[in-house]
Amino acid sequence: MSAQSCVTFTNGGSESVLTALLSARSRFERDNPGLDIRTARIFIGSGAHYSIERAIRVLGFPPANVVRIPIMPEGQTSASALREQVIAAKVAGVPILAIVATSGSTACGAFDDLPAFRQTADTCGAWLHVDACHGGACRLVPELARCVRGLEFADSFSWNPHKMMWVSPPCACLFVRRRRDLHLALAHDLEHASYILDGAAGRPSEKARESLEWALSCTRPFSALKVYLTLILFGLEGVAERIRSMHALARKLATAVAEDHRFHLFANPAFNIVCFRHRNIGSDLSAGHRQLRLNLSVAHECYLTGAEIHGEYWLRAQFTSEATRESDISKLLDIVDAEASQIRGS
Ligand SMILES: Cc1ncc(COP(=O)(O)O)c(C=O)c1O
Repeated sequence: MSAQSCVTFTNGGSESVLTALLSARSRFERDNPGLDIRTARIFIGSGAHYSIERAIRVLGFPPANVVRIPIMPEGQTSASALREQVIAAKVAGVPILAIVATSGSTACGAFDDLPAFRQTADTCGAWLHVDACHGGACRLVPELARCVRGLEFADSFSWNPHKMMWVSPPCACLFVRRRRDLHLALAHDLEHASYILDGAAGRPSEKARESLEWALSCTRPFSALKVYLTLILFGLEGVAERIRSMHALARKLATAVAEDHRFHLFANPAFNIVCFRHRNIGSDLSAGHRQLRLNLSVAHECYLTGAEIHGEYWLRAQFTSEATRESDISKLLDIVDAEASQIRGS
C-alpha cells in the first residue's frame, strides 16, 4: 500500500462495492464537468456477484447503463471481450465510469485477468474496482498469490476476512488506492456531524474525521479487533495453512471427479470452489441437479450448493470447514451417485 492509499472496514462486500463505486462516480463527475453522468456506463462480468449490480442501481444508474461482459468457458470474464466493448463504447462516444473485475467468482471461483483489466481501464480512464471478497485471501498464500496478480493496481478492491480468513461476520475491508477519492466522495456531508467532530477543545479531531470520511456508516463494529484476534490466535502462517488445506481439498475433489466416469468436472479449481455434475441423471441435467441438491440438503449427509453457469445448473462444493476430511470426498461422490440413481428411477 502506498502512503496515498487507505483501507477501511465495512459491514460487508455489498457496502464495500457501493462505497467504491460512489468514489468512482464522484471522481468521474470531477474529471468530466458538464458531462451528463446518466450517459456513463459501468462494465461488469456476467459472473459478477449480484451486489455489484445492486450497488450500481442504488447509485442511481438504470440497468441500461450496465454492460455485462461474457464469461469464458471456465468462468473468467473475457478480457478480450471487455477490451472490444470498451473500444466500441469509446468509438461511439459513450463515457465509461468504471470496470468491475472479480477475483474469485461466487459461482465457480474464477479469477479475472487483472493486469489485462487494468490495461483496458487505462485506455478509457475508467475506475477499476476488483471484487476480491472471496479470493482476496489468496494474497496471504505465496503459491496462490498469482490468482490475484495485479490487485495492487486496482483503484479499489473489496476483501472479506469473514470469508476465507474465518473472522466472525461481518468483517469486510475496502482498499482505495488514492484515499483522496474516498475523502472527496464522502467528506462533504460532514458539516452536520459536528456532534462527533467537535473535539473537546472545540477543534475537529482528524481521526474522528477520517473514520467518517472513509466509510458510509457512522457507528461501526470494531472489525479490526476481530482480524487482530484471529491473527493472534492462528498467526498469519496459520491462516495461510488453513487456506492451503482448503485449496488442497478442492483439488482432491476435482481430481476425483475428473477420474470418475460417473461425473463431469466444470473446471480445475483455482482456489476452493469445485463445480461438477453427474453424467447420468435424466434428460434435463439442470432440473435433475436442482432436484438432487434439494434432496441432499434435506438428507443432511452432506451440504452442496448449486450454481448456474452458462445457463446450466452445476453442483457446487466450497471448502471452508476444517472439519472436512479427505475421506469425505469419496463419500460425497457416492452419496451424489446414489441420489442421481434415485432421481433417474423416479
Ligand atoms: C464474490 C462476492 N462478492 C461480494 C459478496 C457480498 O459480500 P457480503 O455478503 O459481505 O455483502 C459475496 C458474498 O458472498 C461474494 O462472494
